[in-house]
Amino acid sequence: MNRLKSPARLMIVSDLDHTMVDHHDPENLSLLRFNALWETKYRHDSLLVFSTGRSPTLYKQLRKEHPMLTPDITIMSVGTEITYGNAMVPDEGWVTVLNHKWDKKIVTEEASKFPELTLQSETEQRPHKASFYVKKEKAQEVMKNLSEILVKRGLDVKIIYSGGMDLDILPQGAGKGQALAYLHKKLKAEGKLPQNTLACGDSGNDAELFTIPDVYGVMVKNAQEELLQWHAENAKDNPKIIHADERCAAGIIQAIGHFKLGPSMSPRDLPNLLDAKLDHFDPAYEAVKFYLLLERWQRAEMQNPEHYLDYLKGVCSPLGAYINPFGVEQSLHDIIGTLKDCSGDKKGKQYRVWVDQVFPVQIDSDTWLVKFKKLEQTGEGQQCCFTTAILSSKDVKPSQGFSWVNVHQTWMDDELTTSGKNWYL
Ligand code: GLC
Ligand code: MG
Repeated sequence: MNRLKSPARLMIVSDLDHTMVDHHDPENLSLLRFNALWETKYRHDSLLVFSTGRSPTLYKQLRKEHPMLTPDITIMSVGTEITYGNAMVPDEGWVTVLNHKWDKKIVTEEASKFPELTLQSETEQRPHKASFYVKKEKAQEVMKNLSEILVKRGLDVKIIYSGGMDLDILPQGAGKGQALAYLHKKLKAEGKLPQNTLACGDSGNDAELFTIPDVYGVMVKNAQEELLQWHAENAKDNPKIIHADERCAAGIIQAIGHFKLGPSMSPRDLPNLLDAKLDHFDPAYEAVKFYLLLERWQRAEMQNPEHYLDYLKGVCSPLGAYINPFGVEQSLHDIIGTLKDCSGDKKGKQYRVWVDQVFPVQIDSDTWLVKFKKLEQTGEGQQCCFTTAILSSKDVKPSQGFSWVNVHQTWMDDELTTSGKNWYL
């Protein structure tokens, strides 16, 4: 959170399953559209928060399976765990709040007396969350009886039903909404309350997100019955909450446009990306565009291949160097030359490229250093390269605007990166 020196322009707090991630879209198209929009227009001055019911174990698994960005803040286990940054540093203050009138042992002991409840997997049982499955028709009755018993035993809990099957028991002060309220309070104390917050969800455990003051909300098109019902009963006259007519991440993009929270045109949707020119030089946009073109080249989705190679040659300096993740140095122009050989090599295959955490820094009047992660997803899994690039407008034709003069990549692997932390200059 310390990355931003002033209040975030936009804070997006989004659920993952069936909201950011569409499990019915094997191509992940709306997620990729959102990613490109976020990295070009929002990453530098806004906050991305993922708020999921998943435990850290299942959250990490989801990230391996789908082309997801790295959030600034991760809220997991239905608002009972808050972590910051890449390293996922836990918020210890939040844990203390959750201990109030909570005893996990008593919760599991009482819940085990209900034959209608089936325990979820071990990974989903967390210090401040006990999770079960229950049939729809039994849910209301079990929730009522169980909460009465837990009150008698001196606890103050919250029971949430989601996705027409999951039942979570949490401390009363926990939940996705309370976690968001806690973050808002913390940011406000630092003078950094976001200018706008957009909450995005699809199921029961997301309802609370829409009750936090001044928050805009989007229930994606595919929202669950229990959330729509909650909305009809509690918030139908609130103009700040919409039910999108687009699924998942496409619904989030729609809401950004609907509430006028900022740009809502993803570079992936530009009809003619190759010739699309901005009125000012934007290094984040150039990084997103470059790798999007590369993906389309390999997937054979370019309409004008000759024009394409000319464009890439044009934006790469003839003196430019590329150091690949194996440490081999080549000329940027030579690399562009070899692209001929890989045209369409991923045609018809599951193959996507996206960039994550694009951070440009201007180092002098005509030079930018851009740092980002470049990711590739194939049928076999994901690969990540940490990339630094120097883009310059020096000695470049005004029509072209800038050129890539140096690109340096390093493999990123969670385990290796962790063990490399104590490596000095
Ligand atoms: C996720 C969690 C599960 C929880 C559900 C609803 O699926 O893995 O434990 O019950 O979200 O909150
Ligand atoms: Mg969901």
